[in-house]
Amino acid sequence: MKRDRRDHSHSNEIRRRDFLIGAGQLTAGLALMPWLPESAFTQTVIKGKERLIVRSIRPEDLETPVSLLNTWITPNDLFYVRHHLYAARVDVNEWKLTVGGEVENSITLTLDELKRAPKHTVTVTLECAGNGRAFFDPPVAGIQWEKGAVGTARFAGARLADILKRAGVKPTGQYVAMNGADKPLGKMPDFIRNIPIKKALDADTILAYEMNGEAIPILHGFPLRAVVPGWEGAYSVKWLTDIQVIEKEYDGFFVKTAYRFPNRRVAPGEAVAPQDMIPLTGLVVKSFISSPLDGATVAPGKVRMSGFAWAGESNIAKVDVSMDNGSSWFPAKLGKERERYAWQSFEYEFDIAGPGSYLLMSRATDDKGNVQPIAPQWNPSGYLWNVIDKVRINVKA
Ligand code: MTE
Repeated sequence: MKRDRRDHSHSNEIRRRDFLIGAGQLTAGLALMPWLPESAFTQTVIKGKERLIVRSIRPEDLETPVSLLNTWITPNDLFYVRHHLYAARVDVNEWKLTVGGEVENSITLTLDELKRAPKHTVTVTLECAGNGRAFFDPPVAGIQWEKGAVGTARFAGARLADILKRAGVKPTGQYVAMNGADKPLGKMPDFIRNIPIKKALDADTILAYEMNGEAIPILHGFPLRAVVPGWEGAYSVKWLTDIQVIEKEYDGFFVKTAYRFPNRRVAPGEAVAPQDMIPLTGLVVKSFISSPLDGATVAPGKVRMSGFAWAGESNIAKVDVSMDNGSSWFPAKLGKERERYAWQSFEYEFDIAGPGSYLLMSRATDDKGNVQPIAPQWNPSGYLWNVIDKVRINVKA
């Protein structure tokens, strides 16, 4: 039998428990580290993000409880936070973006100069590649995200293509490496990521200075972050300061080792040689049920189920739902709000007459015919969990 916390039917309970553990760790952290000012915790972790689950206090890794992921646009205070290094605090008067490498002219831009480029808005579902890692069996090291390392926001900024055109990319420029102002901790490598030139020049890949109509919040990369729509969240580098156009894939830990997936199906727990690991790119087809919540007790009769589905660079074609352990499936109604890189809401009204324990499920299919699987594709870093979602409810008269 699997561990409790990998059983979706217990995840509500677990979320509460994790939250309490998070809060406990926070207090313990403060007690054990008296040399750190209290503000080091309260300002960066708690302020503005009080309702999130603390997966790590420092660096801040905060998950959104599924119960709060019930709007098409995720408000900034509910948006999950993920970074490897401590969040950078940038003085915008000193901040500059440099663009160099395989370009005709290296350039340096202030935020005001960058804002003179045409403003482009994209609504993007950003998801951490490790979202759902907690459910893999055997377990995988890393932040134990459950379902909420995902959210959807309207990001606005300059097109990366416009900035690159200004610098003039040489034909030798094949990748665009991006670095932020966050500094490595001890011997940790710097967080530098790269995207192939084709994705960098895509009209929807932007350097965003706004998130949901506000300046990008500190924890989300103030004053500037990349937004690489449809691709796993680690491509969207925060606190961006340096862009280098390079000839070959960047040779650093966060490109050559991290965020890679086996090039074939592997057995759960199998070791995979580095040469058999390839970079992650687009997010895969996925859905989750945001209502009812796992463990909810409802009255017999109409039971409305709702949630969200997304598929990276592909579109959602349909979401099917079930209330009888997957024996029968019904097409859910898809929401009207539709944007190329954003999740789509779905809903369905079941009529559940009898009292009992019911397993509700959601299964999304994208426009390329990819369907959420029944069982996970285990991989050494626990990326891209996208198994059919389930919640268990009690129907009680
Ligand atoms: N950018 C920098 N500079 N440093 C980081 O550690 N983490 C990445 C990405 N950008 C990271 C970063 C990862 S792993 C994810 S999933 C997203 O930011 C999360 O974005 P968010 O915190 O705004 O939700």
